[in-house]
Amino acid sequence: MDIQQLTDFSPEAIDKAFAAVLADAQSTIASPGFDAEAFRLEWLGRKQGRLKQLSDAWLKTAPVEGKKLIGQRFNALKEAIEGALENAGTGTAKVTVSSLDITLPGTTQPVGAEHPLVKTMAEIVDVFRKMGYSTRLGPEVESDFYNFESLNFPPNHPARDTQDTLVIADQEGKPLRERLLMRTHTSPVQIRSMLMEEPPLRLVIPGKVHRNDESDATHSPVFHQVEGLCVDTNITFSDLKGTLDHAMKAFFGSSVKTRFFPSFFPFTEPSADVQISCIFCGGKGCRKCKHSGWIELLGCGMVDPNVFEAVNQRRIELGKDPVYDTSKISGFAFGMGVDRITMMKYGISDIGLLYSGDNRFLEQFA
Ligand code: PHE
Repeated sequence: MDIQQLTDFSPEAIDKAFAAVLADAQSTIASPGFDAEAFRLEWLGRKQGRLKQLSDAWLKTAPVEGKKLIGQRFNALKEAIEGALENAGTGTAKVTVSSLDITLPGTTQPVGAEHPLVKTMAEIVDVFRKMGYSTRLGPEVESDFYNFESLNFPPNHPARDTQDTLVIADQEGKPLRERLLMRTHTSPVQIRSMLMEEPPLRLVIPGKVHRNDESDATHSPVFHQVEGLCVDTNITFSDLKGTLDHAMKAFFGSSVKTRFFPSFFPFTEPSADVQISCIFCGGKGCRKCKHSGWIELLGCGMVDPNVFEAVNQRRIELGKDPVYDTSKISGFAFGMGVDRITMMKYGISDIGLLYSGDNRFLEQFA
């Protein structure tokens, strides 16, 4: 075999020489009547193979700086030739250009999509945004004051039992109102907003909340709420009813009806639970609505004067005017569970799926 000597050891010349050898090998492999065994012996034979001879000759004459590059190129060349040889005859012979193989399938980058909970939360917020509501957010780690005390849950009040949660450790040295916990509802953001802003207010507050609830098909210790707060002059219970009735129709469809039942929340007076006519059977009664024709969806009520009082007190402590004057203003608030609405909307029977991170489930919403 003629050994072509290398005289120019610049990287460009080295690459060119290697490309020529590879092209030679590839055209041999691709030629009609190609004999793989003979080729293997001629090109890849350990002692007398062409590659071995070339590498001996080129490495011997190469200057020290060039030896490393030549070594690397030989390894790549050997792999490329072996690859071409493997694919020969299978009909998928690869065109290999130095180390880039443009015939390999590309790596696909999956396109992300909104999580169904995030999507539902955004849709609910959007219904209220169209009615002039702005969005506010608050922290998930909250103090006892914002989560309970200012919302008219006094220390040791039994209403606290319904909202047991995780508390941050080692805070016994602090006064109760300063101790930190995972917020149990989005209502503390009502207080935070009223401390920062003056009436009139129309706010929606989406977010994640936590409770000491055992997981089952309909409960998760982490879930989501959208809270609403409207404070202005002359706000009445009919404004609350009209707003929520409109919102439910905008979200679920115009044939949906709403009805209000007396309920209790420490921070609203009077308080109500809102039911909507069953979206599955239209109110006739089915398994989904336990044959009642109605589905309970949210809690609401008129802001309790004690809440405005707590806000004013705190505003004074912060050097601000106590502008939530109950002789001039009133307001309503509401809160709904996003997880439940999402499950209804998409027919999801186990809340755990929303938190499983399982792509087979999530891909269905992409
Ligand atoms: N925060 C209440 C809950 O989580 C819901 C609610 C919000 C009720 C606002 C009335 C007004 O149970």
